[in-house]
Amino acid sequence: MKSIYINGGKKLSGEVSISGAKNAALPILAAGLLCGGKHRITNVPQLADVTTFGRILQNMGIAFERQGHEITIDSTGLTNPEAPYDLVRTMRASVLVLGPLVARMGKARVSLPGGCAIGARPINLHLMGLEKLGATVEIEHGYVVASAKKLRGAHICFDTVTVTGTENLMMAAALAEGETTLENAAREPEIVDLAHALIQMGAKIEGAGTDVIRIQGVENLRPMDYTVMPDRIETGTFVIAAAITNGDILIKNCFAGHLDAVISKVTEAGAIVTATDHTIHVQGQRVIRPVNVKTLEYPGFPTDMQAQIMSLMALADGASMINETIFENRFTHVAELRRMGADIQTDGRTAIIKGVPKLSAAPVMATDLRASASLILAGLAAEGQTVISRIYHLDRGYDNIEQKLSALGADIRRA
Ligand code: EPZ
Repeated sequence: MKSIYINGGKKLSGEVSISGAKNAALPILAAGLLCGGKHRITNVPQLADVTTFGRILQNMGIAFERQGHEITIDSTGLTNPEAPYDLVRTMRASVLVLGPLVARMGKARVSLPGGCAIGARPINLHLMGLEKLGATVEIEHGYVVASAKKLRGAHICFDTVTVTGTENLMMAAALAEGETTLENAAREPEIVDLAHALIQMGAKIEGAGTDVIRIQGVENLRPMDYTVMPDRIETGTFVIAAAITNGDILIKNCFAGHLDAVISKVTEAGAIVTATDHTIHVQGQRVIRPVNVKTLEYPGFPTDMQAQIMSLMALADGASMINETIFENRFTHVAELRRMGADIQTDGRTAIIKGVPKLSAAPVMATDLRASASLILAGLAAEGQTVISRIYHLDRGYDNIEQKLSALGADIRRA
């Protein structure tokens, strides 16, 4: 198994171009199940999760081809509405095939995803919504077995904001009879991107990006030709990379408006951040100021940026507090950062980070996708060589991050 080697202490500078958003690309690929014909999706990041999703679609009899950042899907040959455990367990987002399959085929057999490093990750709200739309949903031998002659529009209220739950049910409702209202819906930009793709396919959707989404079911949809939005979490990771190395980076092909909470916190920490619609210029400062962060649903501070800003706070000139409100176990990076000399105490979902003058390079282990990013950021700032193992976690969500960091002057390699 390969590791990443970083000789830290270098200021990063230059320009970086952001790839397509993983968490928009995956639901948009699932939307290709909703109708036959050739869907063309561009600006798709080259990630392990996209490869896995492709295997799940091919396992159903769907044509899935990737040329660089472009993917074509033809689900005309959809014969096997199933997603097996051995694929689903490697990527929880596979659950996104559930709504489209029930809507298109009237049935689905999808493995329960199981938990992951950051939490139990239940899908009860996905299943509640499908039942409200008229599906019969059973759990058999670790699989969700769902069926419906024809889904009927319903009023669905989520008792917890769920991103993929909102996406699954928005897709299912697109082909249901009548109107569906999703209340307390997730407002993430990835929901809006999916809605735009569905509307291009002929779906009738209003309110995406707000907490009430209305979907008028239609008889049929048509293939999409859609470009995925830039990845706001990759963007945020490079914002922190500039701040933590006292660097000077111009981030291009991004949507700065998706990162208000992150830009606000990094600015509070002392970096100089200048944003236009599609670029963010970040100038780090020698002194990093402590900030307190509470992760919240969008537009609050994203949980997917929590590990990354913790690395920055590990070097602040004071104490910071981070409160992780979304997932119950999203501090697995803390033990690894401590190995690098960080002074962090945790109590449940709260972490207190007392900044230290320097981090010391060490061999560390990635535990999940965003924890991997936080270790890379810490390694970029630490003196000496940091070696990060289990980097398959990183490859799930970052497209060529070593090449992008090397181009900014980082001494980073995979071996
Ligand atoms: C999506 O996960 C993202 N993944 C996650 O990104 C992200 O961290 C998360 O949203 C929150 O923003 C994708 O979009 C593929 P949730 P999702 O359903 O949809 C509870 C990354 O690093 N919940 O919004 O699975 C759940 O336990 C990944 O790119 C239920 O209780 O998250 C959690 O506490 C990690 N029942 C909260 O809601 C349900 O049926 C939010 O989860 C569903 C969720």
